[in-house]
Amino acid sequence: MDEPVVITVNPNGSLRITGNFVIKDGSGNTFGLGGRNAIGLCRCGQSSNKPFCDGTHGRCGFDSVVVARELPPPAPKP
Ligand code: FES
Repeated sequence: MDEPVVITVNPNGSLRITGNFVIKDGSGNTFGLGGRNAIGLCRCGQSSNKPFCDGTHGRCGFDSVVVARELPPPAPKP
């Protein structure tokens, strides 16, 4: 059985994705990831290599620590 893709919200940093995932652009084209099965996506908005993290979060004062929590059910669709 396939393990689920895991997205970890790093404190003051990236969204780290591990597992069997693909990343597509808004047109549906798939990024070539060079065989990686783990990668960080920028969460701070300052990376020069979006959507990927380039470590800039550590220099720009990005401050976001989150704790896992339950979300309410989605609103019903009209
Ligand atoms: S989260 Fe790392 S550069 Fe934005």
